[in-house]
Amino acid sequence: MVNMKLVLLGPPGSGKGTQAKLIVKDFNIPQISTGDLLRAAIKKSTELGLKAKKFMNTGKLVPDDIVLQLLKERLNQDDCIRGFILDGYPRNLSQAQDLKMITNIDFVINIEVNYGLLIERITGRRTCKQCGAIYHIKYSPSKKEGICDKCSGRLFQREDDVEETVKKRIATYEHETKPLIEFYQQQGILERLTSDGTIDEMYQKFSSLLRMKFQLQE
Ligand code: AP5
Repeated sequence: MVNMKLVLLGPPGSGKGTQAKLIVKDFNIPQISTGDLLRAAIKKSTELGLKAKKFMNTGKLVPDDIVLQLLKERLNQDDCIRGFILDGYPRNLSQAQDLKMITNIDFVINIEVNYGLLIERITGRRTCKQCGAIYHIKYSPSKKEGICDKCSGRLFQREDDVEETVKKRIATYEHETKPLIEFYQQQGILERLTSDGTIDEMYQKFSSLLRMKFQLQE
């Protein structure tokens, strides 16, 4: 059994969550989305979640110590023993240093995307309240409007997916997260993929890249 510790980098709306969910199915490693961990903490109204909410709704990064605490708890769970896909972590250089102290990353995929597509992708996104499946009203609609194909849960629009906040999130990405491309490139573990196709076409690229990198059979 191969061990795969992956990081997906890319701006908001680049398709990190969508591709991570497909990788989970084929490669049998869990997706760890710090955004999802934070939203779960907000839903439970934990002290940490309440602190995080105001940062998320204004498009800013949640303080590093809060996210690190959630991440460490998650990585200690048994399903991470053979690896994981980090979706949304690290998001700045200090988080990348924190991560280095906890574990070694094997491979980083940076998703490059034409910025013109991001706002349309994010504002059209709908997420299942129950199972977290991701849809898009134009590019990946559910069969029945507002209802999840997989579990019949209700679809909702994330609070931070309104255009004004999305623009702030993209600006935060530019200032804080983009320098990580160089950080991982210098370590020789970064590969770039351009998101210029459909979700399925993109997944073919992801899957081939991972199979090649980890020397797995098709
Ligand atoms: P988070 O939840 O991580 O959001 P994000 O990084 O902004 O990324 P998104 O989830 O918006 O986009 P995605 O790349 O996953 O795209 P998706 O696959 O859904 O973070 C939210 C907030 O939490 C942050 O702003 C911050 O405040 C906080 N936070 C999280 N992590 C943190 C950290 N480490 N440190 C500090 N703060 C943190 O796709 C988008 C849409 O496009 C979908 O509708 C999908 O169907 C569609 N789509 C995808 N691919 C394609 C394609 N190829 N063609 C057409 N449509 C497509």
